[in-house]
Amino acid sequence: MTTMKEKPMTQTASANGLERPERDFGEGFCLSGETLQKFDREIAKYPEGQRRSAVMACLALAQEEIGWLPRKAVEAVAAYLGIPPIAAWEVATFYNMYDLEPVGRHKLTVCTGLPCALSGGVHAAKYLQEKLGIGLGETTPDGKFTLLEGECMGACGDAPVLLMNNRRMCSFMTPEKIDQSLEGCK
Ligand code: FES
Repeated sequence: MTTMKEKPMTQTASANGLERPERDFGEGFCLSGETLQKFDREIAKYPEGQRRSAVMACLALAQEEIGWLPRKAVEAVAAYLGIPPIAAWEVATFYNMYDLEPVGRHKLTVCTGLPCALSGGVHAAKYLQEKLGIGLGETTPDGKFTLLEGECMGACGDAPVLLMNNRRMCSFMTPEKIDQSLEGCK
């Protein structure tokens, strides 16, 4: 498998006050200079020659810029880190925090693992489906919410749990708490 060729940057990151330019990774797919600077900060956390260790962080940053992770974004991360595309795909397809298809502005992942299921997770999932009018794996017509089913999130003691936008864990989800959480979503 070939590694995507990177186009040379026309301008380097700047200590001279200039903004870092975006980079075209081919087929017109670009990542912003700001995102690339963040990549570099992540890469700098690891020893020389260990750029690949930043793959999770870089995938998350690319997703943050685009809203999800299209194929070109995964390949761009691989190219930037100098690893084969398959190495980035292995990570992107393993963790459910990476969205390989477009999602709504708010991604709700309700845990239906066994401890959560026994503590009301199934009811929470059903309540969310009824409230949003969508099924699991679907997005509301206005693009505001995507509802997903998730595996154990390591917070079984707080069951049932709901993960919002990959970052905020909501514990002991009753219908009332679900309502409150949804109201807080702009
Ligand atoms: S089963 Fe839901 S957090 Fe563990």
